[in-house]
Amino acid sequence: ELYQPLKGKQFLITAGPTQEKIDPVRYITNHSSGKMGYQIAEAAAGLGAEVTLISGPTQLATPKGVTRINVDSAQDMYEAVMEHFASTDVVVKTAAVADYRPKVVHAEKMKKKPGDAVIELERTTDILATLGELKKHQTLVGFAAETEKVEEYAKGKLERKNLDLIVANNITEAGAGFKGDTNKVTIYKKNGETIELPIMTKRDVAEQLLAEIINYEQGNSR
Ligand code: PMT
Repeated sequence: ELYQPLKGKQFLITAGPTQEKIDPVRYITNHSSGKMGYQIAEAAAGLGAEVTLISGPTQLATPKGVTRINVDSAQDMYEAVMEHFASTDVVVKTAAVADYRPKVVHAEKMKKKPGDAVIELERTTDILATLGELKKHQTLVGFAAETEKVEEYAKGKLERKNLDLIVANNITEAGAGFKGDTNKVTIYKKNGETIELPIMTKRDVAEQLLAEIINYEQGNSR
């Protein structure tokens, strides 16, 4: 018999990096491979959820039973997320979204000139913070990629972005963060609970996180 505690639930999961264009050949991005978010998508679908995966550019195959929408930039991701948010029950924002983009996107390849070059950057929209303002029935789960003061910064994001759970990883720790098949995370919940997990595969992190989401939602409906 299948254990399907998420049957009937709509999940919106974001994964991967964003690419912010400078000109037709260059862009600004980060180290996200998409692995963490894809594992969450696959595990949620396995537990019966209807999963929409909004993905930045990755090398990964679409997990079984998951609907995937491809995006490039933070703005594209924002628009795709907004399109689906109203009908979603749980949002998990694993994507590493650019905080800044080039203010001007050059239509032609930028030519080399003598001396230094300067690229002016402007802020992108904070997708998660926007969802935090709009949220009604949704459970909002954020990630925090930190290099220092992990607990303080993660709890700050939980509060500021009006989240229900935040998954913090220290990306400087061995076996944690970008690219690899393992992660080491601590989950902070709005109700004050903290779950510190040891290093484990991203698949196992995904399963533990989903169990905590289920747990949190049950606690809130009691
Ligand atoms: O993809 P992998 O290689 O497996 O690596 C996994 C990971 C390191 C990318 C993942 O575990 C992780 O930490 N993801 C969050 C990365 C990130 O952008 O963290 P942040 O602390 O900068 O952002 C906090 C939260 O706000 C995130 O949920 C992010 O999706 C969201 N955000 C940020 C900026 C923005 N403009 N809009 C957002 O929604």
